[in-house]
Amino acid sequence: MPTFARALNGQVGYEFAASQQYIAIAAYYDAQTLPQLAAHFYRQAVEERNHAMMMVQYLLDADQEVVIPGIEAPQTQFADAVAPVSLALAQEKRVTAQIVELVKLAREEGELVGEQFLHWFLTEQREEVSSMNDLLAVVERGRDNLLLVEEYMARTQVGDQGVPDVVAPPAAGGAL
Ligand SMILES: [Fe+2]
Ligand SMILES: [Fe+2]
Repeated sequence: MPTFARALNGQVGYEFAASQQYIAIAAYYDAQTLPQLAAHFYRQAVEERNHAMMMVQYLLDADQEVVIPGIEAPQTQFADAVAPVSLALAQEKRVTAQIVELVKLAREEGELVGEQFLHWFLTEQREEVSSMNDLLAVVERGRDNLLLVEEYMARTQVGDQGVPDVVAPPAAGGAL
């Protein structure tokens, strides 16, 4: 398998791992009856799943083998209500670095079609890191009264700037 296709298959695993981690965070908040925080991470989990399936569709379109990787178990226990958002921010920064490495690899390998495919993900990562930073500021400010965080999130789009303006790549089987 060409290096770029192998690396992209690997990224499919990282996106699914991010999705699982967000489900674990959502369940953690849901169990504490913090429905706004839970809903936010349930939505993020679906977004990450869609990212994985966009990469699967790219591999199919490029006539490359699709090898869905296994993933590590997510973290399910947290010291307090701020910890999951800190973890999520670190995860988004890590994924940004992974996408940047993929773009560099595509360039080195002359995979310009693959590089162009990844441009949407660069825009998406910029948004996701920024959103998670905002959410971290909100939960840190409201850590002593999480109902304030819930109320704030019910009224604003904090931590969720939605999808980038550029049209998202198609996802295998359709985006959820
Ligand atoms: Fe992602
Ligand atoms: Fe993400």
